[in-house]
Amino acid sequence: MSPAIASVRPAAGRLGVLTPGMGAVATTFYAGVEAVKKDLGLPIGSLTQMGRIKLNPGKSVAIDGFVPLAQLEDIVFGGWDIFPDNAYQSAIKSNVLERHLIEQIKPELERITPMAAVFDPNYVKKINGPNVKKSKNKRELIEELRSDIRGFIKANNLDRCVMVWCASTETYIEPGPAHQSLAALEAAIDKNDPTIPPSMLYAYAALKEGVPFANGAPNLTVDAPAIQDLAYQQQVPTCGKDFKTGQTLMKTVIAPMLRTRRLGLAGWFSTNILGNRDGEVLEDPVSFKTKEISKLSVLESILEPEANPELYGKIEHRVNINYYPPRGDNKEGWDNIDITGWLGYPMQIKVNFLCRDSILAAPLVLDLALFIDLAHRAGKSGTQHWLSFYFKSPQTEGNKPVHDLFEQLDNLETELKSIANAVK
Ligand SMILES: NC(=O)c1ccc[n+]([C@@H]2O[C@H](COP(=O)([O-])OP(=O)(O)OC[C@H]3O[C@@H](n4cnc5c(N)ncnc54)[C@H](O)[C@@H]3O)[C@@H](O)[C@H]2O)c1
Repeated sequence: MSPAIASVRPAAGRLGVLTPGMGAVATTFYAGVEAVKKDLGLPIGSLTQMGRIKLNPGKSVAIDGFVPLAQLEDIVFGGWDIFPDNAYQSAIKSNVLERHLIEQIKPELERITPMAAVFDPNYVKKINGPNVKKSKNKRELIEELRSDIRGFIKANNLDRCVMVWCASTETYIEPGPAHQSLAALEAAIDKNDPTIPPSMLYAYAALKEGVPFANGAPNLTVDAPAIQDLAYQQQVPTCGKDFKTGQTLMKTVIAPMLRTRRLGLAGWFSTNILGNRDGEVLEDPVSFKTKEISKLSVLESILEPEANPELYGKIEHRVNINYYPPRGDNKEGWDNIDITGWLGYPMQIKVNFLCRDSILAAPLVLDLALFIDLAHRAGKSGTQHWLSFYFKSPQTEGNKPVHDLFEQLDNLETELKSIANAVK
């Protein structure tokens, strides 16, 4: 149960959205918002822009308006990247959106230039770039990030700011001693402990500046108990991790159907080909491990094999990603699902999802930015479980995660209703 909401500050003034990472997802997000503002396209896939919430049987209202959300006209974008390309150049290189669309929003995108990144090649192995902060001292790097945030807020006359991690997936790390408490983290930062990745420095800097943080990648980052302690201490909301866009989205819809109909599952083999820079980074086995762990957990949690051993006691679950440059951002995923029916007779479901990775992720970045800003204005701190809807591996603070997409939507709507009640 989340605590009662006393009041909700209005969404007045301008909202800054900062993204560590200005690659395919981030630029498709910025460009999409600018295109929608110019009536060049619709914000399809975004609940905040196109979603409705059911109030009574037969009555639904638009989510935007039901709760006070920042408006697209009031959003200002900023970010960091290891490459110096501005958002226009990066959008062209990312090759997600058509050139004629990008040209129509060129001035808006050119204005978004990357601040120098905090980067450690031990955490992202396949790429390297020149636009990085020079200091090797983690405390100094945090101070530089904090100063970037304050500078961005001042220069753009912002009322509030949020941060959404859209940078590369870092190598897999288990929570270690430095991540267990805020005191341990502070001491580890002072000692330049190598177990603190760049993403944690961004999160630390954001929270210290009172900026909510959403994690779009599977990195540990805001899942670490120390960062959670900081979020509660600073009274700032966080959420994560790993945008739920393609095959996992499908899994969290099909698996509840199997469970609901009491159909058995013997195995689920998922594979895909992906040719963008994210795919290149994930070619490194240690970065892929971070992703694999995030992707594997969903079936067990939805199907509860312990409670249903005859149906789900022995599931063979395999996931892999293959870097295949010709496809660029246009991922193709195949799922072979071996199910069992009446008397144990085997059947198969095949899913062939020809998707566009960043087209699916961009509306999620927008929703997360607007919802986490709403959460902050509603006085919420720490993990925002109601935003699990957007993630493959929702932050739980030790509780059982909810993966079923429709259960997640129920939780999100319940939270929106309690926020709306506090506004009245
Ligand atoms: N697109 C999807 O469907 C999807 C789904 C789930 C998660 N994600 C995650 O979202 C993230 C972004 O995906 P993408 O397709 O935009 O990748 P991308 O490679 O196009 O962009 C990532 C950018 O981050 C930059 N970067 C790396 N380390 C950085 C650092 N420390 N600071 C600042 N910038 C840094 C890179 O230079 C690159 O420009 C990835 O972690 C990916 O795994 C994407």
